[in-house]
Amino acid sequence: MKTPVFNKEFRDRLHDLLVWRRDVRRFRTDPVDEELLSDCLQMACRGPSVGNSQPWRFVRVTSPDTKDELIRAFEAENEKALADYEGEDAALYARLKLAGLREAPVQISVFANVETAIGKGLGSRTMPEAKMYSVVSAVQILWLMLRSYDVGLGWVSILPPDRMASLLEVDSSWVFIGHLCIGYPEEQTDTPELVKEGWQDRLPMEKFLLER
Ligand SMILES: Cc1cc2nc3c(=O)[nH]c(=O)nc-3n(C[C@H](O)[C@H](O)[C@H](O)COP(=O)(O)O)c2cc1C
Repeated sequence: MKTPVFNKEFRDRLHDLLVWRRDVRRFRTDPVDEELLSDCLQMACRGPSVGNSQPWRFVRVTSPDTKDELIRAFEAENEKALADYEGEDAALYARLKLAGLREAPVQISVFANVETAIGKGLGSRTMPEAKMYSVVSAVQILWLMLRSYDVGLGWVSILPPDRMASLLEVDSSWVFIGHLCIGYPEEQTDTPELVKEGWQDRLPMEKFLLER
């Protein structure tokens, strides 16, 4: 295969993709093409992983009963989270829409198979959590690939991690990473919803860069 050349025009488009990626909670219900989805998942599986262990496991949730169970689990966790806030924060939190579990036409729960034999444990002896980081890398690729097709992804972490493996009937050793709601967004925007709602602004990169 010929080595590709990435020029400025490509980089500018890549910047657009990164700036216009969003966490989406408001979905249209029209379906997402299966080939498109497959392409995005294929690319996600090209992600880096410790020891090339490829520990990502994607569980596509299609059963209406299971979706209902997830909604109930989300609502229970969200109520507990709301109880941690007081005053203005509590009022604002209660107004936020923090998942598109009812509307998103595609839903995928993501796990890390932290005990996989693939990769023969290379690199994860010192940092077992590197397997989980590998799965997050794959999710990030999936997120960007989907956005490149104008499809949105919403990451739902307001779910009970310890119950997810049994709820989705997968091996109990798999670690829950996140539940992904996928579908066409109601709107495309370059501004995160939590910024728009006044919950948390995005801060300049310099604030996060240290030198020693
Ligand atoms: C690990 C992770 C978990 C998240 N969990 C949730 C969630 O449960 N509900 C939600 O509304 N957004 C969730 N988000 C999305 C963030 O709120 C969002 O990324 C952030 O506000 C910045 O917005 P943007 O992604 O549109 O730039 C999660 C994001 C990440 C990376």
